[in-house]
Amino acid sequence: MQIPTELLAKIDEAISHYPVSKRSASLPLLHLFQEQFGYISDESIAWIADKLGLEQINILELVTFYPMFRREPAGKVHIRVCRTLSCALAGADDLKTKLSEATGIHCSKHHEGFSHPPEVSPDGQFSIESVECLASCGSGPVMMINDDFYEAVAPETIQEILSKYK
Ligand code: FES
Repeated sequence: MQIPTELLAKIDEAISHYPVSKRSASLPLLHLFQEQFGYISDESIAWIADKLGLEQINILELVTFYPMFRREPAGKVHIRVCRTLSCALAGADDLKTKLSEATGIHCSKHHEGFSHPPEVSPDGQFSIESVECLASCGSGPVMMINDDFYEAVAPETIQEILSKYK
């Protein structure tokens, strides 16, 4: 697996924070790989395990336990919509419907809305995922687009918001 030099430097720096047990660097390394490649591939799991002197299952179990890790690529612009109670009551479903219309993503894999793994638009530009509470329950519905946080999102503003990411 080809690892860019910059990523290698970040990996070594992350591992240096755990001189007693390299295993503790597993999560930081997974975050670095997802940031770099967009998801966690089998190759990445094997590479990380080898680097840390672990079995591949030790890394795979983290990837499958924590919902923030993806096993499939997301879109270039990844949208997370909170589906937990406060946001659901504040209109998260309407928001998801508007996002679906605006991105051309149709919920083919899941009956209850966009879930894990994320649904990706045909052009690969957008993906949508329903997630649990994003810790802003008083200002729903809440969504994140990449690292940008949006609160009290009115569905009619979706086109305008998404135009910033095209
Ligand atoms: S319920 Fe949506 S942010 Fe907490």
